[in-house]
Amino acid sequence: MPGPDPATIARTIANRRTFAIISHPDAGKTTLTEKLLLYGGAIHLAGSVKARRAARHATSDWMALERERGISVTSSVMQFAWHGWQVNLLDTPGHADFSEDTYRTLVAADSAVMLLDNRRGVEERTRQLFEVCKLRRMPIFTFVNKCDRPGGNPLQLISDVEADLGLQVHPVTWPVLTGAGFVGVADRRRREVLLFDRGADHGARLVEARRVPLDDASLTDVLGSDTVASVREELDLLEMAGAPWSEEAIAEGTLSPMYFGSALTNFGVAPFLEDFLAHAPAPLPREAEGRTIAPTDPDFTGFVFKIQANMDPRHRDRIAFVRVCSGHFTAGMTTVLSRTGKTLRLAQPQQFLAQERTEIEEAWPGDVIGILDRGNLRVSDSLSEKGDVEFLGIPRFAPALFSRVVLRDPLRRKHLDTGLRQLAEEGAVQVFYQDSMAGPVPIVGAVGQLQFDVLLHRLEAEYGVRATLEPLAFRVARWIRGDDDRIERLVEGRSRLRLYDAKGGSILLCEDEWALRHAMEAAPELEFLEAAP
Ligand code: G4P
Repeated sequence: MPGPDPATIARTIANRRTFAIISHPDAGKTTLTEKLLLYGGAIHLAGSVKARRAARHATSDWMALERERGISVTSSVMQFAWHGWQVNLLDTPGHADFSEDTYRTLVAADSAVMLLDNRRGVEERTRQLFEVCKLRRMPIFTFVNKCDRPGGNPLQLISDVEADLGLQVHPVTWPVLTGAGFVGVADRRRREVLLFDRGADHGARLVEARRVPLDDASLTDVLGSDTVASVREELDLLEMAGAPWSEEAIAEGTLSPMYFGSALTNFGVAPFLEDFLAHAPAPLPREAEGRTIAPTDPDFTGFVFKIQANMDPRHRDRIAFVRVCSGHFTAGMTTVLSRTGKTLRLAQPQQFLAQERTEIEEAWPGDVIGILDRGNLRVSDSLSEKGDVEFLGIPRFAPALFSRVVLRDPLRRKHLDTGLRQLAEEGAVQVFYQDSMAGPVPIVGAVGQLQFDVLLHRLEAEYGVRATLEPLAFRVARWIRGDDDRIERLVEGRSRLRLYDAKGGSILLCEDEWALRHAMEAAPELEFLEAAP
């Protein structure tokens, strides 16, 4: 059956936006997510996502997380509508469940919102996630949160972001007073101030805003002439301090529009949403082997960016999350899995509407569907109607945690190897080998502890292998390329370690960033790569 024509697809996706939020724990991602859902009408009273976070925070035990699986799965992708926009918000796992899925989810998004705490600015996790966005040249929009609380000087924050991330910033809104005095944000383009009503329910419902031109006399009545004068002054200063607006630079990810607000009180959330959605990209073309797939291509294509395994041994089914890249997806459609050439009927596609999981009839580029899978699919797999599309794989990012795998029963070595290979293929962990006299020793790498906990459990439940993990004291790794002797010399007698991945590629482990920098300076002729070549 021929797909819809490109014009129909173009019309349907013009107002679609698929994005993820990147932030450091505690910057307010849960709160902002909840407010976006509140504004999108997907929930009516803020507080429910929060309850989930509280439950989650209470334990880093993934079994407990799994018990809540119904919730954690459904909240992986949230879809809502706002002022004519169709929004897909991809949840990037954080906190205790931080894992490679967090990085992979970014690959499925078209843009990212970088959420900063107004006191803390750019923090470690933000930086790590930013690097992934940068690698993909992804448009990034910055929301400075918690302006209802005293924070750093916003001008200083701009220079910190520019210096720390090498990312230029263009403030679109600007805080009017901060801390307890925070009353609203100035809209630079329109030279208006949006004054918010504090409301009586601590941000559980939408807030009303009043727009007042900066030159309007009534503004002075509300704010006082000193405040109005200093807002004017600050906006004038920004004309000189910040980078000029450039659609091109935003699209390339080198300039980030910046917004100020408070997710807790809802101040500044609506103006942010309005401007962000207007300037964020619609579903973008995707690179595939030998060609670029435009979202308007009539044939359905998509790729798997995340697999959620079911930890319950009685239910071996898993959910594969597929980002639709082109064409029109309809329930029950037959697709071809490019890796194997086999056909796969996508029978029970799921869609994720806020807190509920529902079966869907159709999906368009930019949407995410959940496919019930019995072990056919892997992270990075391409699906299409004709089987002629191979999307460029999701990069494997250098892990930050490494552990040596110690087998309790040496006779189970073969099972261990099989388990590690399959779990690595699925994308649950990364597996490396260290050379030793007794043969290669498996070392597993992950970006979050949860991945290790899941690994041990699944090795035992699915492969009958009981193993323990001995953590290694290395926190930073890079794939390394160049002259073999030079690599050996770099490692010799130092607190560095060389491992091999399944394809024979070398990866260098260092204790910390400092040690890595030292190694890079010592061997500038070698290539150090953050993602697997
Ligand atoms: P996260 O998902 O990024 O980790 O952050 P989360 O939204 O859970 O927020 C972390 C803390 O920051 C919470 O406080 C939350 O209420 C607070 N917060 C979020 N946005 C704002 C804001 O705009 N202004 C202020 N002042 N605080 C904000 P908590 O005390 O850890 O939790 P709770 O007791 O409020 O639930």
